[in-house]
Amino acid sequence: MAKTYDYLFKLLLIGDSGVGKTCLLFRFSEDSFNTTFISTIGIDFKIRTIELDGKRVKLQIWDTAGQERFRTITTAYYRGAMGIMLVYDICNEKSFENIKNWIRNIEEHASSDVEKMILGNKCDMTDRRQVSKDRGEKLAIDYGVKFLETSAKSGLNVEETDNSAGGSGKPVKITEKKSKRIKFFKCSLL
Ligand code: GTP
Ligand code: MG
Repeated sequence: MAKTYDYLFKLLLIGDSGVGKTCLLFRFSEDSFNTTFISTIGIDFKIRTIELDGKRVKLQIWDTAGQERFRTITTAYYRGAMGIMLVYDICNEKSFENIKNWIRNIEEHASSDVEKMILGNKCDMTDRRQVSKDRGEKLAIDYGVKFLETSAKSGLNVEETDNSAGGSGKPVKITEKKSKRIKFFKCSLL
């Protein structure tokens, strides 16, 4: 069968349970949001093919369960990842403190040249914030990785999907708006 893409990028979302990993991926792939918390069981993924500079780029995004009991299965996916997004909840101090443990997991299980990015999610919930943006930025600087505050709810820094692109996984043309959204997921891989 003919290859339907020029590049394949495997990305992974990790972080404590409840920080919003599944919602971020849902916002990115379907441009919607759900307040119901359905904790991920093991691992899940979404595929999306985009077009960038005339090349077809297939993004395979793995969404891991944050719960400890799935740790063995989820860490098995680190090795194949080219980019890993570490997510914490800005309203949950503990999830922020745990980022260093997630980084340690990456050091133990991922390939050494993996791209990393820290995301402080739920930044729409300003009145419940426990972790300042400053602290997030400082942590990212300490580890020499990129940082963004995001909101799966409002779509901030996840950017909205143009309806014409659809959620069908068909190649989409990159507009300025979409390329920003994709930037979030592709880190600096391209
Ligand atoms: P596990 O699958 O257990 O690892 O959790 P998860 O990190 O995938 O969390 P999930 O995406 O399921 O979100 C957990 C809860 O947080 C849900 O009730 C979401 O509605 C809520 N949530 C996620 N992202 C946001 C956000 O950006 N803003 C707000 N206000 N709530 C959010
Ligand atoms: Mg989940």
